[in-house]
Amino acid sequence: MVKLKRILNYNMRLVNKVILYIYRRISRLTLNEVLFICAVFLIPFFIWFWSNREAKLSVNSSNPVIVWWTHGFPSTSETITCEDNLKCDVYSDNNLGNAYNVEAYLFYASNINFDDLPLPRKARDVIWGLYHEESPRNVRELLHEKTLSLFNFSATFSRYSDIPFPLQYLDSLSDITSKEYYIPTTEKNGLLKDISPVLYLQTDCETATERDAYVRELMKYINIDSYGDCLKNKELPQKFKDDYLNKLNDNEFLHYIARYKFVLALENGVCEDYVTEKFWRAIKVGSVPIYFGSPSIKDWFPNDKSAILIQDHPTPANMSEHIKKLLKNDHLYDEHLTHKTKESITNKRLIEEFRMRPYQTDALNVANKFECLVCRKIHEKKTRLQEHIVNKSHYDCPKPVSALTLTVNPSNDWVYLWHQAEKDAEEIFKRVYS
Ligand SMILES: *[C@@H]1O[C@H](CO)[C@@H](O)[C@H](O)[C@H]1NC(C)=O
Ligand SMILES: *[C@@H]1O[C@H](CO)[C@@H](O)[C@H](O)[C@H]1NC(C)=O
Ligand SMILES: *[C@@H]1O[C@H](CO)[C@@H](O)[C@H](O)[C@H]1NC(C)=O
Ligand SMILES: *[C@@H]1O[C@H](CO)[C@@H](O)[C@H](O)[C@H]1NC(C)=O
Repeated sequence: MVKLKRILNYNMRLVNKVILYIYRRISRLTLNEVLFICAVFLIPFFIWFWSNREAKLSVNSSNPVIVWWTHGFPSTSETITCEDNLKCDVYSDNNLGNAYNVEAYLFYASNINFDDLPLPRKARDVIWGLYHEESPRNVRELLHEKTLSLFNFSATFSRYSDIPFPLQYLDSLSDITSKEYYIPTTEKNGLLKDISPVLYLQTDCETATERDAYVRELMKYINIDSYGDCLKNKELPQKFKDDYLNKLNDNEFLHYIARYKFVLALENGVCEDYVTEKFWRAIKVGSVPIYFGSPSIKDWFPNDKSAILIQDHPTPANMSEHIKKLLKNDHLYDEHLTHKTKESITNKRLIEEFRMRPYQTDALNVANKFECLVCRKIHEKKTRLQEHIVNKSHYDCPKPVSALTLTVNPSNDWVYLWHQAEKDAEEIFKRVYS
């Protein structure tokens, strides 16, 4: 008995020793060693995961087939299960061959090539779906309804799209009211001895909205700190300099821009509900956006006065007068920041939209919703699908208007390209239906 106990004891001590050794060794691991171990364990897991994913799809499945015709996004192939247990096989490979009876093609517009479409278009049998989250900067054909009308369903920033995501850049409602970055007005006033009241930060200088022309003019009346490549007059601190475009949402950077009383937020294109992080970042840090872009932006203001609109102050001189008035009167200035000072959001539409469609801040969730909408339509097709065609309201970008003149400037290259795109749209339409 005693002997057995001793052996057990000995073994226990040995085990303890080994555990202690392993523990000590782990606590001394270098980052490289940790990464190596992770890789060794994760690579087989991913291989297993991917092969399994593909295996889930079989040629003989009786599910309807949906194909992402464009490459790159969302680039997964799987059987999806949607509400009411509807199933579809979604492929991200457009070379499926004839084994598959494709019932819908989806297009990620940024990667669309209008010379390479799944033709002939069997319009009555095959649904086309359009996904686009960007301004028409890179896909000008979409400026025109002729192109839009090739598609049956859409997922875009427009509230009238089939899977709308107008709040794609608002991470949460609490970002609006949170005081994490907010600097009270009296403190901001003290900072004005070191910085200008207005911030501009842009690297894309030639835009349809002529934002640089506007800011250049506004600079004649009021001091603006410009750190980006456009109209640069100030250097970022060293810590932000390298690769600052990837640091725009870092905590430290947000604190940095929160010191400014105003932030210029001019979109690169004018489309209904195309509202980017430029607007929401200013709201988040508690700086007042001076905004130009979506004509209906007021519908998404947290409160009535959450931003100053260029369209309400027709010239840069007018705008500078208004800014100067606010700089002299803290009470007037604070009226623009009730989302911070009172932590209030009075806009019911904004709250409702965010709560109703929580998927919209995540591109993959949007893609998933879209696949399920199309999947449902395919299942309905067999019984009662009504004809549905995308129109201008799903992606509404009128002829480019200049922020400076608030009218179309015929000598702006983008206006020329708009007309060019109109001809292209006609061509594409003809080609698809010839
Ligand atoms: C698919 O079904 C056909 C007959 O229905 C069969 O001959 C073929 O082997 C099946 N293919 C696969 C990959 O299961
Ligand atoms: C803009 O400025 C001009 C010239 O100073 C002035 O006549 C006009 O009333 C101003 N308009 C607005 C809307 O402030
Ligand atoms: C899809 O769109 C095409 C082209 O506009 C149209 O001819 C067809 O009827 C539509 N199909 C459905 C199911 O709505
Ligand atoms: C455009 O599409 C929307 C939503 O799909 C629809 O409600 C509207 O009636 C359409 N407009 C026209 C002019 O067909």
